[in-house]
Order: sequence, then structure tokens, then C-alpha cells
Amino acid sequence: MKHLIDIKDLSADEIFNVFSQTLEIKNNSKKKNSKILRGKTIANLFFENSTRTLVSFELAAKRLGAHVVNVNIGKSSTTKGETLRDTIQTLEAMQVDAFVVRHTENQICEKIKSWLKSKTVLINAGDGNNQHPTQGLLDVFTILQHKKNTEELKITIIGDIKNSRVANSLIDCLHILGNKNIHLFGPEKLLPVSHDKAHIDTSMHAAIENTDVIIMLRIQKERIQDNNIPDLDNYHSNFGLNRTSLSHAKPSCIVMHPGPINRELEISSEIADSTPSVILEQVQNGVLIRQAVLKLLLG
Ligand code: NCD
Repeated sequence: MKHLIDIKDLSADEIFNVFSQTLEIKNNSKKKNSKILRGKTIANLFFENSTRTLVSFELAAKRLGAHVVNVNIGKSSTTKGETLRDTIQTLEAMQVDAFVVRHTENQICEKIKSWLKSKTVLINAGDGNNQHPTQGLLDVFTILQHKKNTEELKITIIGDIKNSRVANSLIDCLHILGNKNIHLFGPEKLLPVSHDKAHIDTSMHAAIENTDVIIMLRIQKERIQDNNIPDLDNYHSNFGLNRTSLSHAKPSCIVMHPGPINRELEISSEIADSTPSVILEQVQNGVLIRQAVLKLLLG
């Protein structure tokens, strides 16, 4: 593993290796890991808004002893017409060892990779509606904190599947680990017609019935043309998770969401804030997973 651009580039062994590093970091004293990346410089280059992904990459790098630069795109020379290639090469000339990039354009990391010097590391923090590999890793890691394995689980993803890089990386990761029971449901306009790695359900009941894990997704309005935005007044009653819709799942079912959540739209507060929800655990694991990834790529 030289870069982390697409989760499909990883084998099952490589995924489990990230998980075992994550567990080691979780269980070991902060001291032991705090200097692994001393002398390294990591630049976070986020062309889209972010709270948890940006902050968790920053904290992960700092907790391993690296220097971190958060490039403020709105105040950078991008606004003066500088190309992305020139921005990347300028930062590289300042001896940046790794870039963590979030961008609106699908596959942008493939381009960036081709501009980099041989030693510079690239991590995809979300490209368009394509991939979000560290999110996929932290989601599956979180599932494995609650379940013995992923292969035998029914896993249900509900919401705006079409525009979700989170769904793509999660489905790919589960597929690599051997799961064949992924169910997708959401408004017709936001659901693919077919999927080679998942079942498309036609009702909330079918999607949730007897499921082990539910992942709720936000409507990603910023990626949807106005005429395809679903009717928000009835959204919660048709596609939202609340006590009534959750009652069809297994009693041991856990509820996840990559955040940011829109309360009372895709998920009710009573679900988001109580026991079946592991949303804040996902956030916590996000820092650890990113520490493990940085350690493996740069350590
Ligand atoms: C997601 C993203 O940006 O892809 N959030 C995240 O990284 N935790 C999902 C979203 O914005 O809805």
C-alpha cells in the first residue's frame, strides 16, 4: 500500500492489517505511538466542507507526531487562478510528505498521483461521489467492534445511495471481506436501478427486516439537481429511521451514520442519541483508523 485512493485497491489481508494496527493504537499508550511520524509533514487539502474527516486527519497526524498544514483553499492561490497541479507541486517543494485530499471531482486522486514525486503519499478523503476509503475502513472496523465477523451479517444502507461515496467505499470493503447480503433502499431518484454487489429493496420494511446493521445516509443536496431532490415533508415518514421503522430489525441491530446527520429527516433524535446508535463510536474510530493508515503509509 503506497497511497490510499480507492478501497478496491486493498486486499482482505491489507484491510485486516489496517484493523490490527488500529487496535494496537487503540490499546497502546499514547506515548508509544506519539513519535512515529516525527519530522513528517502532512498537508490537508480540502476543496469541500468537512468537520469530522478534516479534524480527525489532523488529530491523527498530530497524535503520531507529524506536522500538519491545513491549506485554507478559500484563501489560497486557487482563488487567483493557480491550477491544482501547481498548488500540489508548490507544497511538495516545501517538503510536504503526504497530501490528504478532498475534492468535488471523481477520480481526481489518479491525476494528482501522476504529478507527485515518487516518495510523496496521497490519501483520498473523498472524491465527488466516488470513494471515501478511510470512511469505509472506519465503518467496517466499527461493525467489527460489535459483531464477530461481517460475512454473515445483513447490512442495510438507506438514503441517498446514488450520490454517496461513503456507500461505495463501505459496499466495496464489505464485498472484499466476503459479504453478499448488503441491502439498499431510498427514494427512487436517489437509488441505483441495479447494483452488482448489493440488493436493491423496494420497501423500508424489506430493507430493515431482520437486519444486523443499518447505515443511514444524508441527502447530499449539493450533488443533486433541484428537480431530483425528494419531497422533504414526507421524507422522514417514508425513509427515516425512528422507533417504528427500527422495530423490524434484529434486537441486536446497530445503527450507524457517517455524519453530518440531519435530525428528524433521515434519523430521529431518539435513535441517533441512544443505545442502538454507534455514531459517536464511528467518529472515535475515525481518528484511530486514520492514525493506522498514516502509520502504515508514512511510518
Ligand atoms: C460524508 C462525506 O463527506 O462524504 N461525511 C463524512 O465524511 N463523514 C457524508 C456526507 O457528507 O453526507
